[in-house]
Amino acid sequence: MKIAVFASHNGSDLQAIIDACQNGMLNATVEAVISNNSDSKALERAHKANISSYHISAKTCGNESNTDAPILYILQKHQIDLVFLAGYLKKIGDQTLRQYHNRIFNIHPALLPKYGGKGMYGMQVHAAVIHAGESTSGVTIHRVNEEYDAGEIVAQKMIPVSKSDTPESLAKKVLQYEHLFLVDFLKDIVNGSIPLG
Ligand code: GRF
Repeated sequence: MKIAVFASHNGSDLQAIIDACQNGMLNATVEAVISNNSDSKALERAHKANISSYHISAKTCGNESNTDAPILYILQKHQIDLVFLAGYLKKIGDQTLRQYHNRIFNIHPALLPKYGGKGMYGMQVHAAVIHAGESTSGVTIHRVNEEYDAGEIVAQKMIPVSKSDTPESLAKKVLQYEHLFLVDFLKDIVNGSIPLG
């Protein structure tokens, strides 16, 4: 299973996937990392792990819609089977969505369909969960379509919110779960219990 990971910032989810591939927990390889942010730690992590990494953005391509063709080119060049969006803040273009139908997944740090959509990323998500007084939050993995956070939900993990949680403490807690949960999810993809399109 050849995986491409897209990430805009820190890339700790990316790191969890790289580590699982390297230590044999996951029978897969991360073949390419794509980021819209040239300063992202994700690109640094890819570089350290000797993984082909690419900065593709409106800046490098002239405008946002021009990023679609080079992204698809890279995925095809590396014969990618599955694309995992791990903290990637851009939409995926139409050509890539078509060619990788049902094979692009996103991880979201809350229980969709609540607390998702445009602008719902990073600390905003956890602040909204705390503000609403939820006693449970979680992690969602869904297939990616043309809308933010709206594709078919394929896996969810519930995580308790305690009364003393702040957006920051909840973010930390959720992210720790994500690192384990996404590896379990990818194992299910590799063993065929979650089908690719
Ligand atoms: C994670 O919380 C993920 O759910 C969301 O973006 C965050 C990425 O974290 N989509 P990191 O950059 O992998 O540390």
